Amino acid sequence: MSEQESRDNAAVDAVRQKYGFGFSWLVLMIALPPLVYYLWICVTYYQGELVFTSDAAAWRRFWSHVAPPTWHAAGLYAAWFLGQAALQVWAPGPTVQGMKLPDGSRLDYRMNGIFSFLFTLAVVFGLVTMGWLDATVLYDQLGPLLTVVNIFTFVFAGFLYFWGLNGKQWERPTGRPFYDYFMGTALNPRIGSLDLKLFCEARPGMIFWLLMNLSMAAKQYELHGTVTVPMLLVVGFQSFYLIDYFIHEEAVLTTWDIKHEKFGWMLCWGDLVWLPFTYTLQAQYLVHHTHDLPVWGIIAIVALNLAGYAIFRGANIQKHHFRRDPNRIVWGKPAKYIKTKQGSLLLTSGWWGIARHMNYFGDLMIALSWCLPAAFGSPIPYFHIVYFTILLLHREKRDDAMCLAKYGEDWLQYRKKVPWRIVPKIY
Ligand SMILES: NC(=O)c1ccc[n+]([C@@H]2O[C@H](COP(=O)([O-])OP(=O)(O)OC[C@H]3O[C@@H](n4cnc5c(N)ncnc54)[C@H](OP(=O)(O)O)[C@@H]3O)[C@@H](O)[C@H]2O)c1
Repeated sequence: MSEQESRDNAAVDAVRQKYGFGFSWLVLMIALPPLVYYLWICVTYYQGELVFTSDAAAWRRFWSHVAPPTWHAAGLYAAWFLGQAALQVWAPGPTVQGMKLPDGSRLDYRMNGIFSFLFTLAVVFGLVTMGWLDATVLYDQLGPLLTVVNIFTFVFAGFLYFWGLNGKQWERPTGRPFYDYFMGTALNPRIGSLDLKLFCEARPGMIFWLLMNLSMAAKQYELHGTVTVPMLLVVGFQSFYLIDYFIHEEAVLTTWDIKHEKFGWMLCWGDLVWLPFTYTLQAQYLVHHTHDLPVWGIIAIVALNLAGYAIFRGANIQKHHFRRDPNRIVWGKPAKYIKTKQGSLLLTSGWWGIARHMNYFGDLMIALSWCLPAAFGSPIPYFHIVYFTILLLHREKRDDAMCLAKYGEDWLQYRKKVPWRIVPKIY
């Protein structure tokens, strides 16, 4: 490992310690699963009302909605998970190399997300039209599925914990078993060519999210004889986001999760439970709420989504292209940048000259456009934007600390040149 690489690894470790979870990891592991149940129960049985009561009997009634696992849900999920794993391993797609590991080696990854995504949609569509699968099954089985996937992830994380105990030198567990169970012990656990972290990060959770949305739309149609404009907006926006994700799938290889985070309960549960079951809250809510939107409202929400997308994708692609070719023209002029002592270039024009994370800003605009179609009858569809804002604020701080540790003076110079973190003139 070069001197530079060991400095980078030391910076990652330092930042991880500062922006890690402290002791809150235990609280998260205990509190988050009930929170997902809570939101689902509020949306499904209480018309989206946030239930708070001091009446113990009312709470007992509330929690009695937690659904036990069923063989039906377990069978569905097993078929789903194994089917997606088979696609990850065997579906056609280019093989690309991941980022350098701490020992200097690189892993191969099969980038077949878009094929798997479209193939899955075609198969599900075929099964539904032939009458072998009910279009509303994911809505009807949502409660049992939530329990099944929760149980699965807790067990799977146990498997991952033991898997990593004999891992590489840089993967040594901390010796605090519950913490290691939460954070994971292996960076890239693999069964044959199946990279479990990359697979769970994208496939069984993200494609499931889209299918759940479609199932919600089908249920709305079954119950009310219509699929409303707000439902079409939510399903359309989120489908577009997912297609875009799979088209640019390779970008996931440079994310913090793939580069630095071990694969334990946190990522596993986040990918398989949190993502599909909370990112569908808007569609879940709309199943029982068939309000319309004024035309100006629809235009404003679509405009917000498209503007957010243009910023989010524009900023990410601009950085990607610039890092490959610093002589590129950015917004009609030669790119301006700071050359760091480490040799990395920091773009200071285009989106990266307006704020240091315009890509987060664009992502937040998109997230808000997913919530607004639900109108203002319940706070639950807005849960996503609240959570996502907290997530990205935390990420920005962590990334800033990481870049400061890596680039020192050069980063301070960039911060001076581009003072806004995420939102120009505001934050
Ligand atoms: N939907 C979700 O759940 C979710 C969650 C998280 C993130 N995201 C999205 O994923 C996308 C990527 O996010 P990310 O967290 O990986 O952050 P990012 O902004 O894509 O990457 C930050 C890294 O880029 C480099 N960099 C920073 N400033 C630069 C500049 N001016 N010029 C060139 N390089 C610069 C630095 O790394 P090096 O110098 O070391 O290369 C820095 O660590 C974002 O659009 C974000 O909104 C989505």
